[in-house]
Amino acid sequence: MDYSKLAAFHDLEPELENFSDTLVTGLMKSPKSLPCKFFYDKRGSEIFDKICNLKEYYVTRTELSLLEKYSTEMLGLFGNDIHLVEFGSGSSKKIRKLLDSGKSIKAYTAIDISKEHLLDSCSTLADEYVDLSVSAICADYTRKLCLPTLPLNSYKKIGFFPGSSIGNFSQEEAVSFLKNAASALGSGSGLLVGIDLKKDTKLLEAAYNDKAGVTADFNLNLLFRAKKELGISFDLNSFQHQAVYNSNLGRIEMWLISKTNQSIEFRENKFVFTKGERIHTESSYKYSIDDIKELASSADYHISKSWIDANRLFSIHFLSLKN
Ligand code: AVJ
Repeated sequence: MDYSKLAAFHDLEPELENFSDTLVTGLMKSPKSLPCKFFYDKRGSEIFDKICNLKEYYVTRTELSLLEKYSTEMLGLFGNDIHLVEFGSGSSKKIRKLLDSGKSIKAYTAIDISKEHLLDSCSTLADEYVDLSVSAICADYTRKLCLPTLPLNSYKKIGFFPGSSIGNFSQEEAVSFLKNAASALGSGSGLLVGIDLKKDTKLLEAAYNDKAGVTADFNLNLLFRAKKELGISFDLNSFQHQAVYNSNLGRIEMWLISKTNQSIEFRENKFVFTKGERIHTESSYKYSIDDIKELASSADYHISKSWIDANRLFSIHFLSLKN
């Protein structure tokens, strides 16, 4: 891959936050848990891209069609000479819907934890959009982020946080993410955020339990990584994927269930799993429109405009800072 077309690349080295230490800490908890950001190594990011194309996973295609249908209106709300900053850019596919609808976005900065995937996606984008200034930041956006000085830095910044990635945060974390984003993007900034809506449990659970088992592979990738990178002797066949909707907390929960009594040794630790014991690997919070209004308001934003598909599956909101 040729990265020379990028206007800037900043590596804030998020990987230095140790997978090994986090794993030990997580497996000592009760219930055992592992943070979902470790899903996204190169292999995990590729599996996630497959999830986005699954029939059961309505999230990506619904959001893409909202972006496609309303992009002109969205650009109109942003204003002229925009520097768009995407948190968790993945394959940088969604941004194209905005780029293809007008010329007001002059610069694009992608932030992602998965370095190779980030550089590949941004280089491809820079190749295709020759007039766009494309920068990449390898960082963990779940931590408070101070943006480095970027090309076209004085342009009005609009944050882009699609895919309902905000659903991985607890409500408290979501509020602090939004506040941090506001201070990173600066005064006059706005935020375009995609948020999955509360809906029928069957539809929700089907989206995280696809027939082809891609989501199961994605979930098990945590253990695959632990095996490959840390040499931990996990037997992937002795763990099973589970995704259930917790209606009290309004979230999909992903777990890995031990199919047998087993123990796994790593460093000075011995992790004992009883048959049926679970590791919590991801929460994906779902929101009602009222929940979203409350969330925005707690972070000193207001909703300037919302877009929702006819089946009320998914929503996109343009948030502006209250003043
Ligand atoms: C990227 C966090 C939005 O919660 O729907 C998809 C991740 N996990 N299938 C989601 C995911 C399992 C996804 N987010």
